[in-house]
Amino acid sequence: MLNIKVAKTAGFCFGVQRAVDLVYNNIGSKEPIYTLGPITHNEQVVEDLAKKGVKVVENPEELKDLPKGTIIIRAHGIPKKLYDELSSYGHNIIDATCPFVKKIHKIVEKEKKRHIIIVGNPDHPEIKGIMGWCNDENYTVIQDIEEAKNLNLPTDLQLCIVAQTTYNYIRFQELVEIISKKGYDIFVFNTICSATQQRQQEAYELAKVSDAMIVIGGKDSSNTRKLYEICKSECKNTYYIQKPADLDLSQFKSYRNVGITAGASTPHYIIKEVLTVMSEKSFEQLLEEENLVEINA
Ligand code: F3S
Repeated sequence: MLNIKVAKTAGFCFGVQRAVDLVYNNIGSKEPIYTLGPITHNEQVVEDLAKKGVKVVENPEELKDLPKGTIIIRAHGIPKKLYDELSSYGHNIIDATCPFVKKIHKIVEKEKKRHIIIVGNPDHPEIKGIMGWCNDENYTVIQDIEEAKNLNLPTDLQLCIVAQTTYNYIRFQELVEIISKKGYDIFVFNTICSATQQRQQEAYELAKVSDAMIVIGGKDSSNTRKLYEICKSECKNTYYIQKPADLDLSQFKSYRNVGITAGASTPHYIIKEVLTVMSEKSFEQLLEEENLVEINA
């Protein structure tokens, strides 16, 4: 019989839950509601909000000509200049930037005399937002060990290092160590969100003792991808799914211990659905093993 364990930290984190709640709480007002980009990297949530009239706007310029309403800024945050631009369009603005991301904006603003090193993915909206709080072009984004090794800034430069909230903590420590050896005067701020660290640690420990791991999350969710990488390194039978329908149950026939975790943008009801499907599978398997009834596929 399958033994299924769900990671305690799986699913919506505080910041995403807060942002999603803010959108739902504003549904029903007479004015239109816009989110700047999808509020979470989860298709089901975004589809549900669309049915309730929430419009996702990808290009802020579009908001100039849209009927006056409320713009909700998602947990990733946005560059400072964009706030000013949005304010000039006459919409009401609700800022759902996660407080932990906001803290990074404040750090890089305060440390503007130092050259800011942002550790993370330069294409991720959170990093684009952080860049927009740095002084002019006084920053460098690095995303891996190779880029840290190749960092070649003048040695008299004072540095301030921050990280994307969802960055891998162990890799961040390695990068900081590499940069420290180059002899710069450095301030390091570990801005990796503790929810992310706990989730990654728990996923790692669960993957170590599981025959198979299921990682649930949106295909564009960088924190889910990192969870997948961590689990895959410990458990080769790791499956990345977005919803229960993506599960191929036949793959789980030979496993005993299955672990489930989920990215920060995955609502708890999807985790429950996956668990239900897996539990049903487990029940069928038990019946098959005990030869109690014949199961017709
Ligand atoms: Fe915020 Fe941490 Fe979530 S930074 S958005 S609580 S992963």
